Amino acid sequence: AMPVAEGLPETLEAAARSAEQCQRCRLCETASQTVWGEGKADAALMLVGEQPGDHEDLAGRPFIGPAGLLLRDSLHQAGLAPGQLWLTNAVKHFKFIPRGRQRLHQTPQSGEIAACRWWLGLELAFVRPRLTLALGASAAFALTGDASPISARRGGIETGLHGGPVLITWHPAHLLRLPEPTDQAKALQELQADLLQAGRDS
Ligand code: URA
Repeated sequence: AMPVAEGLPETLEAAARSAEQCQRCRLCETASQTVWGEGKADAALMLVGEQPGDHEDLAGRPFIGPAGLLLRDSLHQAGLAPGQLWLTNAVKHFKFIPRGRQRLHQTPQSGEIAACRWWLGLELAFVRPRLTLALGASAAFALTGDASPISARRGGIETGLHGGPVLITWHPAHLLRLPEPTDQAKALQELQADLLQAGRDS
């Protein structure tokens, strides 16, 4: 039989199907499934998180666990409906270490983020958002190639590797981990302000 050339996916749907079989890094060996993006295929605003968590890995959908619920609540307050956006992650397989019956989230390495840029690049190419919001350091690195801490970058717009504007903000899980209520309230206010700006600029 003639070998079938594995071509570039020609649609967002074809890319999603192709990503289900992804073996570009080793995270596919332990994750339950690929968690692709969801929302409006020609959204003006794309949101990029870090990676699926425990809940997302089991359900196969992004942003449905505790951090996702905080994000969805903040989106609602900013007047943004998830169905009008493209919601995705820098890395599409859950990375964890088993701890008894629990699966503890692990931050993806730069090599895993770089391997998964293939898919993020396809999402950007097909959705063609006017603005992309990077949620946290992993997303900011995936989108811009700059791995420096985001504390000094948040609220700013940078140029992404794809050539489009990227607004940098906190990851919602970062807010949930802040021990001081006053720090948490401040970071939540900043996330809220960044979502409002993202809505205005997209
Ligand atoms: N859930 C996701 O889908 N992505 C994140 O980055 C965090 C939680």
